[in-house]
Order: sequence, then structure tokens, then C-alpha cells
Amino acid sequence: MKIVGGSSGRALATLVARELDLKVSGVEIKRFPDGEKYLRVDEDLAGQDVVIVQSINHEPDELLFEYFLLCDTIKDLGASKVIAVLPYFAYARQDSRFNPGEAVSFKTVTKLIEYVGTTELFSVDMHQHRIERPADVFRIPAHNLTAAPLLAEYVKAKTSLEKPIVIGPDEESEQWASTAAKVIGADHDVLEKKRLGAEKVEITTRRLDVRGRDVLLIDDIISTGGTIIEASRILKSQGARRLIVACTHPILAQNALARIYESGAEIVVGTDTVPSPVSFVSVAPLIADAIRRA
Ligand code: R5P
Repeated sequence: MKIVGGSSGRALATLVARELDLKVSGVEIKRFPDGEKYLRVDEDLAGQDVVIVQSINHEPDELLFEYFLLCDTIKDLGASKVIAVLPYFAYARQDSRFNPGEAVSFKTVTKLIEYVGTTELFSVDMHQHRIERPADVFRIPAHNLTAAPLLAEYVKAKTSLEKPIVIGPDEESEQWASTAAKVIGADHDVLEKKRLGAEKVEITTRRLDVRGRDVLLIDDIISTGGTIIEASRILKSQGARRLIVACTHPILAQNALARIYESGAEIVVGTDTVPSPVSFVSVAPLIADAIRRA
């Protein structure tokens, strides 16, 4: 087996390779003066199972196209299998035609990933609110791993939470809240969210008793921070004591991180599915383990 990393996957590819006792294979990626991308694989991959690690964050179109070039090239060079590790899977949120005429971008992206020769896929906490499993959309074996236990273990080790409660900022986050709560040995609950626009959400409380309790607020993605900031405000106004924020994918667009700290969060922690200043938890062991078992 060989491992390669795309521009946004090299650090994680190195950590996964270390777990699997492998070395990352060389890939040269640069631009022609006219802006087109040039890519060259610097190793004989014929007959090999090749893992490509590429996170599709921040410049999703750019990084997806790079994945297409990498996968198609590696297949063309004679690899037996190409296993995609796309820890953050952009476009997963647009998995439905919410308004007439909209692109169902998630489906387009999945088709292209298959078209270039991907034989199996792993992602982490892929945003699936309407689709139950990646296998419902992909025709190749596709696996969705969760980083919630790793995040909870980190929080458990780094903080001494008193009377802890784990809260998800919306109903869909129940899955991460309940998983993290089990690891921490705490209760969990969720808030109810109404989205008013791309950057504006309104969160109304459910019957929660967070007064005087230390709260771990957990979600899959923090993008603009709107969801978490509003949840923090509600929880603080309800008397929550310490507030720890965790997410799998710290996209942290614009000045989201500063605004989250300003909203009262003591610690913000994310994983390295998206490299960021708070990516303290690595998903490398999770991915390596899944690859080993595949
Ligand atoms: C939405 O359903 C997701 O689980 C996240 O809550 C959302 O993507 C976070 O986005 P933002 O940080 O922009 O509020």
C-alpha cells in the first residue's frame, strides 16, 4: 500500500502513514503561468493500493479538481485500487434541492469522485442530515467515521469538568452530543435551531438545566461560527458555568474563532480534518484503523 497527500492533505497523510508504518509517496503539484495546475506522481504505483488524503476545505473547487487529477493519474499509472480519504467533504450540506432549480452539489461531486476511478472512500463526520449513510449515494464502498469520541477524550483529559453536560446546538447534532456524553460520562441534550440566512441563526431553548453546570458544546462543523455563538449565548444566559466548544471540522471562516472566544468559550477544539489553530486532535489513528480493517 502507498499513501499520497494532496495540497491540503499532506500533514494528515504523513500522520496516517506513520500509523500504518508507511512512507508518503512524492507528488509534485504546481501551477503553469496561465493558472492551470500541473501534477506529477514521483513513484511507481503500478499494482499498488494507493490511499489519497485530501481535505476539501476552504478552496473546495480547487482541491476537488486536484483530487480528480490525482486519482485519475494514479489509476492511469496502473494502481489496483485508489482509496480516497476526504476527511472534510465539502458540498455535503447541499444534498437536496432546497429551492427550485438548485444544483444538488453533493450528488454531482459524488459522481465525479467515482468517475475518476475512486474504488473506496472514507470521510469523517460527513454532513448527512437527509441522507442516512454515504452508501445511499455512492456506488463504491463509502464509509463515514466519527471523531466525536476522540474530541470527547481530549476534553476529558484536558479539563476537569464539574457536573458536565454535553449539548448539541441543533437537533441534528444529537449524534455527536450523545457519543461524546458517553465518553465523558455526562448527560446530553440539544438546542433547537432556526436558520434565518447564510450567516444568521436563531436558537430557542428546549427544557435544559445547564445552570451551574460545565457545558461541552459539540457540532460537526464550525464555519462562520453563527450556530455555536448563538448556542453559547443561550447557554450562558441559562446559567452555564464553563463552556468548552468542540467540533470535527474547524473551518472557522473569517474571524469565527475570535468571535467564539468573545462569546464566552474557554476552550475551542477541533480536529485536523481541517488544519486550523485549534486542530489539537488528530483523526490519523481513526483513519488508519479504518484502512486497516477495510
Ligand atoms: C449545520 O447543520 C451544521 O451541523 C453546523 O451547525 C453548521 O454548518 C455550522 O455553520 P456556521 O458555523 O456557519 O453556523
